[in-house]
Amino acid sequence: MNTRYSLHCRICDTFTKSKTQQICVKCSSPLQIQYTEQRKDSIKTSQRGIWATDAPMPITNPGNIVTLGEGNTPIISLDKFAAKMGLSKVYGKLESQNPTSSFKDRGATVLVSFIKELGINEIVEDSSGNAGAALAAYAARARIRTHIFAPSSTPQQKIQQIKIFGAIIHLDTNDREATTIAAQGFAQKNGLFYASHNLSPFYLEGTKSFAYEIVQQIPEMDLPHHIIFPVGNGSLFLGAWKGFRELQIEGKIKEIPYLHCVQAELVSPIVSTFENRNVPKHDIHKPKTVASGIAINKAPRAQEVVDVLTNNQGSAVSVTEQEIMGTQNELAKNEGLFMEPTSAVAFAGLKNLVQRNLIGANERVLIPVTGSGLKDTSAIATSDRG
Ligand SMILES: Cc1ncc(COP(=O)(O)O)c(C=O)c1O
Repeated sequence: MNTRYSLHCRICDTFTKSKTQQICVKCSSPLQIQYTEQRKDSIKTSQRGIWATDAPMPITNPGNIVTLGEGNTPIISLDKFAAKMGLSKVYGKLESQNPTSSFKDRGATVLVSFIKELGINEIVEDSSGNAGAALAAYAARARIRTHIFAPSSTPQQKIQQIKIFGAIIHLDTNDREATTIAAQGFAQKNGLFYASHNLSPFYLEGTKSFAYEIVQQIPEMDLPHHIIFPVGNGSLFLGAWKGFRELQIEGKIKEIPYLHCVQAELVSPIVSTFENRNVPKHDIHKPKTVASGIAINKAPRAQEVVDVLTNNQGSAVSVTEQEIMGTQNELAKNEGLFMEPTSAVAFAGLKNLVQRNLIGANERVLIPVTGSGLKDTSAIATSDRG
């Protein structure tokens, strides 16, 4: 397996030697992996999943791969939803069928394999729930002791999931940003590795498999013109972009789909930046969004997301709470898909993109179902949607 890579800052074009460095030594931006030589042979650790694609991966010894059979998630056609939007084709990619029921397993398998390769046996991470659950599962499999910092408002199902894997959970009564500060402080104080899924370039290597799979699963002539993501920190959005770019450079695809970002109106800093509006100051008195997975006010990779949107002609739009919950309900009733409110954000955003004529009637659209509805039922419990 090819391991010739460097850690690169896309913002100031600086390379970093240390493989454990999380941020650029010059400008403090998060790093990405840049391969200096493409992998020639593909190591297949299983018959399916992200380790069976042709994607270059930053792991030296295949014996260190920690896998739960993630990836290879089905792509299905959502015909009733497409018809309602006035579109001929909408695909859903069921990321909820990953081992811990969200796309986060893609990043966790690579990040934990890298940590195992380093010989580290105790890590710290902060999360709104899903990344914490994914990391806790893979770390359990690798026998790595794990601390997860999460807001106390995290859905109970996600908290239970983190606990059952044996991770030590540290709940913080403040908001999501406070958990990051607390996790970093705890890691520093105790000399532990801060395995941040938002900063780690290894995590993005896992989420890039999303793009490799789409190209493997759909014939080139039927590939989507547009992919729509619910975005908080942008780990799936940026990973997908990286995967599509690698595939384009390799000559495996001609065009990269337009990648769009959707956020909840109540927390939409990337949409504001993209529209050249000032990012509103975080107001702790504002009501919380039901899309707790993307309630991120300060994403470390926000500038990278905006750069990809700008350079690839994508769009960033926001949706209301009513639209999120209405769309979650509609997809369950009409398509049999039970997704998290956070995932429904992207489907709700499709309506907005069509209304603005950013997506044409004959164009194909793909939307990931990023997490299972069973992971977050709090919004349903408080509504009367029967
Ligand atoms: C279900 C779900 N979808 C989407 C996202 C957004 O991912 P990111 O913050 O990396 O953009 C999250 C993040 O936690 C999530 O849990």
